Amino acid sequence: MKTKSILLKSRPQGMPTEENFEFKEEELPDLQEGLLLLKSLYISVDPYMRGRMSDAKSYVAPYSLNEPIAGGVVAEVVESRHDRYKAGDVVLGNLPWQTYSISDGRGLSPLDPNLAPLSYHLGILGMPGMTAYCGLLYIGEPKEGETVVVSGAAGAVGTVVGQIAKLKGCRVVGIAGSDEKTAYLKTELGFDEAINYKTTSNMREALAAACPNGVDIYFDNVGGEISDAVYSLLNNFARIAVCGQIALYNATSVPTGPRVEPILLKKKALMKGFIVSDYATRFPEAATELTNWVKAGKLQYEEHIVEGFDQLPQAFFGLFRGENTGKQLVRVADYKTN
Ligand SMILES: NC(=O)c1ccc[n+]([C@@H]2O[C@H](COP(=O)([O-])OP(=O)(O)OC[C@H]3O[C@@H](n4cnc5c(N)ncnc54)[C@H](OP(=O)(O)O)[C@@H]3O)[C@@H](O)[C@H]2O)c1
Repeated sequence: MKTKSILLKSRPQGMPTEENFEFKEEELPDLQEGLLLLKSLYISVDPYMRGRMSDAKSYVAPYSLNEPIAGGVVAEVVESRHDRYKAGDVVLGNLPWQTYSISDGRGLSPLDPNLAPLSYHLGILGMPGMTAYCGLLYIGEPKEGETVVVSGAAGAVGTVVGQIAKLKGCRVVGIAGSDEKTAYLKTELGFDEAINYKTTSNMREALAAACPNGVDIYFDNVGGEISDAVYSLLNNFARIAVCGQIALYNATSVPTGPRVEPILLKKKALMKGFIVSDYATRFPEAATELTNWVKAGKLQYEEHIVEGFDQLPQAFFGLFRGENTGKQLVRVADYKTN
């Protein structure tokens, strides 16, 4: 069985380019006892992968040079010599960017293809959904009538954060990078206001107009100047969930902004960074509640699916160009086809 792989050839400086990746085709070895042959169906591209492409110390180890990139993948078991799985089963795992791969089963979770579309396990029912749910509910602790601002609002995490905040009775203001996205947030997802940061010259003024009662919760997916504008509008006892800083991921030097500490002090505000895995004990509850909301039509879900394994690097770059509304994914193969 031949597999295609995408390896990290060099560590990006600034925005990653095709030069940083290498495509390789090779023959997989025969399947040994205790192993599974997996066919990748959907491969997730996520902003955190940019951090793993650098060798800076972080909460997760860097990718090794000349090894395949790895991340969230939904895969079909094509052949099994493993007693827990049979051909035709579908699994979720942290797997290499390969069309086919061999696994010993460790770290794989079986998926029920009848529960939801398989791709949802990389989005609303997977890591981004858990991030939105846990960060908003356990750091933000939203209460009815409060104002929630979410940056990166039209992405995988942001769309879910805003909708859960609406379900909790909050006023929700989203920040995103195009008029199509802001219109989508308001008309499709029920956000109260949405601001296009790319065409707004004074973010502070625009936010003040959108948040007449100030900001109680800020769910930060992007950082940088957008966040600087939000901090100035915080209310007493505001909560800031620092989820992501995508505006800084390609920065080659760290930009400085206003000092936030005096604001936190005067407003008695909480600012808390988190990694979704901190909330692993909450995942069963989150998965049940998110599934129920999706089934009841209370949560809308959008995916931006790019077709074809070879498009993985471009789909990844698309995250930094704002090409996606909702969860950015690559479809590699269909379920139960060869
Ligand atoms: N803490 C955790 O455990 C955890 C877990 C998952 C994700 N995250 C973080 O959460 C954030 C969102 O992740 P996601 O998977 O939902 O990605 P996403 O929002 O679906 O995709 C990234 C989006 O970020 C926006 N963006 C890109 N560059 C930007 C910039 N310079 N300034 C402002 N916005 C920019 C783009 O939208 P626009 O068109 O609006 O610019 C793009 O669509 C990321 O920062 C990610 O690292 C953290």
